[in-house]
Amino acid sequence: MFSIELINKLKQINTPFYYYDTALLHKTLMSVLEAANQYNYLIHYAIKANANEKLLRIISHYGFGADCVSGHEIKRALKCGFKKTQIVFAGVGKTDDEINYALSQDIFCINCESLQEIEIINKLALKIGKKQRIALRINPDIEAKTHVNISTGTKSAKFGLSSNELEFIISNKDSFSNLLIEGIHFHIGSQITDLNVFAHLCVKVNSVNKRLLESGFKIGHVNFGGGLGINYDDPENQIPDFKKYFAIFNKNFVHTINQSFHFEPGRSITGQCGILLSKVLYVKSNEKIKTIILDAGLTELLRPALYEANHKIMNLSSKGIETLYDVAGPICETTDYFGRSLKLPETKRGDLIAIFSAGAYGEVMASRYNLRSFAKKYYSSKLLDESNKLNIV
Ligand code: LLP
Repeated sequence: MFSIELINKLKQINTPFYYYDTALLHKTLMSVLEAANQYNYLIHYAIKANANEKLLRIISHYGFGADCVSGHEIKRALKCGFKKTQIVFAGVGKTDDEINYALSQDIFCINCESLQEIEIINKLALKIGKKQRIALRINPDIEAKTHVNISTGTKSAKFGLSSNELEFIISNKDSFSNLLIEGIHFHIGSQITDLNVFAHLCVKVNSVNKRLLESGFKIGHVNFGGGLGINYDDPENQIPDFKKYFAIFNKNFVHTINQSFHFEPGRSITGQCGILLSKVLYVKSNEKIKTIILDAGLTELLRPALYEANHKIMNLSSKGIETLYDVAGPICETTDYFGRSLKLPETKRGDLIAIFSAGAYGEVMASRYNLRSFAKKYYSSKLLDESNKLNIV
């Protein structure tokens, strides 16, 4: 994955920093596009996974739409070349300002998650004399078989409308004068690796779609959300099996004419193209274990501390004998670890450490806790093209 030449270049840069392999991003985008095109499925990249402007410009170039969850994400999407007509605006807690902004931008759709939100959007649309297209985000009560903290589709979650709320909307179909209820939306969780879960989702989607169509709603689009997982254990296995993923929907969803079908992948698009690079500050040992203290911590990559996530870790500077190490960050938090009891080659101060699969929910979730600076970012194309100068972006 890393040539000697690249490692030598990376070693010259102040750590910690994010390194994005843009060639891999292009490959991933081509792969998802080819797989989706087979069924005319439409993609809205979930900007929350990585809102880096350079990456967004590459993604929008492929003609994808954007899935946004804040007014600022909509602004970022527009700035980076996504078309208004391909932007969806989701989120369980949209503010009035954000709704007004979305209304003013003529985006494709607002995905709604509560009765109150629907009433507010109707009221705000009425104020400016606009008919707004919305989709109903339904909570299908499905277990996504992923980490509990990134599961969104069960009844106990705050996300989506319940079946009772859906029935209420059906019975009060004509009370929303300024809304066009034209879509249904689902998203049951993230980092889903058991693809049967998506087959179960289709069963629910089929019944909601049928119920609404039979009740006279003109549902023009069905949005299945995101959630496809990536391989954190083996990041060399870089491109998720998009063909297999879409084939599940093609097989299990009862396709209807006059409807379009939408997906919102985030992690599966950008997850593997980002790597966090860090240097070893200290190696300390006690009776129990040796601990590597890195100069990157949960401020740069929160996922291990928040979801007990495993990101593969590699020492790019050493080929020494393997020993067990804990790998920790410098932050004053007990959970500031990237891994425990990991087999790594003998590690010393100054070694360059790569933490893989950090392209999704890495940079975007960074914080300035302990008043640390945000990590810089570098891109493969730039690093490799210019022989002498390193480009800091
Ligand atoms: N659509 C909706 C409505 C979502 O809420 C999400 C993610 C996506 C699409 C994209 O899902 P993806 O394809 O990336 O799984 N910070 C967590 C993940 C939170 C996901 C939130 N919603 C993590 O680092 O694992």
